[in-house]
Amino acid sequence: MTTNNAGQNNRVRIFDTTLRDGEQSPGAAMTFEEKLEVADLLDNLGVDVIEAGFPIASVGDFEAVSEIARRVKNASVCGLARAGFKDIDRAGEAVRNAKRPRIHTFISTSPVHMKHKLNMGANAVLDAVGASVSHARNLVEEVQWSAEDATRTEHDFLCRCVELAIRSGATTINIPDTVGYATPQEFFELIAMLFNRVPNIDKAVIATHCHNDLGLAVANSLAGVLAGARQVECTINGIGERAGNAALEEIVMALRVRRDRMPFETGIDAKLLSKASKLVSNVTGFPVQYNKAIVGKNAFSHESGIHQDGMLKNVETYEIIRPEDVGVSATSLILGKLSGRHAFKDKLSQLGYELADAAFEDAFRRFKALADKKKSVFDDDIVALVDDEIIRAQDIIVVKSLKVMTGVGIPPSAEMTLIVEGEEKKAEVTGDGAVDAIFNVIRELYPHSVNLQLYQVKAVTEGTDAQAHVSVRLEEDGRTVTGRGADTDTLVASAYAYVNALNKLLVKRRKQAPEALNVAK
Ligand code: KIV
Ligand code: ZN
Repeated sequence: MTTNNAGQNNRVRIFDTTLRDGEQSPGAAMTFEEKLEVADLLDNLGVDVIEAGFPIASVGDFEAVSEIARRVKNASVCGLARAGFKDIDRAGEAVRNAKRPRIHTFISTSPVHMKHKLNMGANAVLDAVGASVSHARNLVEEVQWSAEDATRTEHDFLCRCVELAIRSGATTINIPDTVGYATPQEFFELIAMLFNRVPNIDKAVIATHCHNDLGLAVANSLAGVLAGARQVECTINGIGERAGNAALEEIVMALRVRRDRMPFETGIDAKLLSKASKLVSNVTGFPVQYNKAIVGKNAFSHESGIHQDGMLKNVETYEIIRPEDVGVSATSLILGKLSGRHAFKDKLSQLGYELADAAFEDAFRRFKALADKKKSVFDDDIVALVDDEIIRAQDIIVVKSLKVMTGVGIPPSAEMTLIVEGEEKKAEVTGDGAVDAIFNVIRELYPHSVNLQLYQVKAVTEGTDAQAHVSVRLEEDGRTVTGRGADTDTLVASAYAYVNALNKLLVKRRKQAPEALNVAK
């Protein structure tokens, strides 16, 4: 594979779809506030386009896309729409207030999708391409059209669709590997084929959107860039349905580290990659695998004696990226219990937080309590504490007190006081274990019927006094939410996480989806 110059310039646009393709994966649902937090960070990170959601999918999606459109300062804000006018109008309305509004409309073009999913023939699909793109272009300047399942589409038909979409006003043409089936050489050839055969191809930016079913999403996207694509669609930590999408951090760092072979630029501030990874992992409850490239816990750890020896002599022996280049700092021991407000504020701003006065006072009070309990307070402890403060600020149900009794020969029991919409409720209930007793007492105080899909405990830092970070995923009628809680006591963190998930479910119930959707990821 060699670089195809047909792509005109060396700037590769990063289109982030964490909030759309990523968020649609089961269990990754985010609340309104979490979506805003992620969107703000993506904008600071320097992504070119934020695909903020699928506005017709639900009132919640529409509101999140609208608010993101209003607040994002630099990136284009994009809403997804199927080929129908109703979808496109809703997406147009949601992104209306963005500095750079974009509508992303798509339709399947492969024989298998056209026959079994759409029940449409080739001419009907072509008609829909022309009509949907022209309609979207009447609403906004930036129109992106995607050929869903492009990698399994007949070449002649794909060329006709792409040419028509561009003629109808599409400014970006996206070529998805929807089912993650392509190989890098094949994907390179597909993009190169479009550059060779579509007469008006130079009038649009060509994009890749590769799924990771064979673990080839990043390799395929980079092959697409070498063939002339100048937009890569990706997600933080590679989240997305099934095996996910191309991981943004891997695309960005591969382009940066191997500029000798891939002479392209992105606008990404790589120093925020680690922070973005942690945020997305926290809000979705999807852990980052330890050996994940760029952002995994072990990505910069050297265990074997030979490697450690080499590193001590010269870091270049085993390190191709400096950890600080992606925002991983050496674990720093920070403030202690004697630290004052000023030092705490400085630390927060180094970590990228700016809290309003009341939130700052609350965070400071909790920091002092933590420093009393814990020998050493690390940066990660502060991040967990502040994130916990932010996520629980909106809660309708609040844990006021918790007492847990457990041991050998006694049935575990939990006594809890909850404040439910201002009203205090208290009960004591037993369970099969301490955590089960806690979850039972919550169900007793606030009766509900949901499926517990995930209960996960992670230590924020090392040591037995480390804060526990607990994630709880609940499911009700197909809606899933992930709650989080952090505390030096794992049982308290578990109660916080369950109640946080319950609060999110209440918000979701109030923003029910208007219509069921059957959409590709
Ligand atoms: O994977 C896919 O084909 C998609 C489209 C909607 C772009 O996500
Ligand atoms: Zn997709």
